[in-house]
Amino acid sequence: MISNPVTAIAHPNIALIKYWGDVDITLHIPANGSISMNLDELFTRTCVAFDSGLKKDEFILDGKEMGGLSLDRVTIHLDHIRNLAKTETFARVESWNNFPMSAGIASSASGFAALSLAASRAAGLQLDETGLSRLARRGSGSACRSVPGGFVEWQAGKSDQESYALSIAPAKHWDIVDCIVVVSEEEKQTSSREGHSIAHTSVLQPARIEDTPRRLESCRSALMEQDFEMLAKVVEQDSNLMHSVMMTSNPPLIYWLPETLAVILAVKALRMNGIQACYTIDAGPNVHVLCPEEDAKEVYQRMIEVRGVKKVLICHPGGPAVIE
Ligand code: DP6
Repeated sequence: MISNPVTAIAHPNIALIKYWGDVDITLHIPANGSISMNLDELFTRTCVAFDSGLKKDEFILDGKEMGGLSLDRVTIHLDHIRNLAKTETFARVESWNNFPMSAGIASSASGFAALSLAASRAAGLQLDETGLSRLARRGSGSACRSVPGGFVEWQAGKSDQESYALSIAPAKHWDIVDCIVVVSEEEKQTSSREGHSIAHTSVLQPARIEDTPRRLESCRSALMEQDFEMLAKVVEQDSNLMHSVMMTSNPPLIYWLPETLAVILAVKALRMNGIQACYTIDAGPNVHVLCPEEDAKEVYQRMIEVRGVKKVLICHPGGPAVIE
């Protein structure tokens, strides 16, 4: 089989309510549901072609031939797709990120969403959005949220079938800006994968999980009503809860740097001055500062001045994964 090359594009996403911890680590069935926003300005573009002349899968990332763990992760994912499409043909995968890996922004969500769409089509499958989201989840949990567009909820579910994401509002619903405040461009020492696997060792994780339905509800309402104050409150609380679990895991995970805290305090100071803004932090030291579009200029200016900040990227709500 030699397929025509298929190219897909997907955006990374920022979690407003975080996924942390699995009930099934192989299937990536999360311990709790989560909500996110796709980031329009950032994307991964992936081109896939199956070719019976290949002796193994090939993976080229930003022009560099990849091997080791990166290639293994892609091959395992292609194996799921080969299973579904009933083929054994290897594939050539070429992928580009329009944001440098060193920007401290995880590319696994956009990467596996784009790979799932391009590879499933190239293999002759016509998965609907739900099927694609389920498939992307197998590559990286948060990738299932990069398949639908705009503001997205991942329903945790209890099985492969039940665990997928869907759009709860389109990108144009609310012009929120994510100012990504980069304080470190180094690769993190502990991957999310390892972090998820020890989340249950924190005595705080059960309390965090138990309270998740309330936070999800509050986040959904804030989004529907475009109530930034309500959103800010729940987003910061959710991020603080996840980092409390991380810090009290065994071994403890501390992703923050001194500059991370400096940015948090600068966001609080902004609010004292009447600017609407809130922070949320993933498994790394960089801070996502959310604000309404009308406050973005001021937030950018203040954040770029914080000592130790390397750069600030501005992102708006983004659409779904699409074929190019
Ligand atoms: C802190 O989806 O990157 O960003 O399934 O192991 O690839 P894997 O983990 P991943 O975990 C994301 C963790 C987070 C929170 C979130 O995005 O919900």
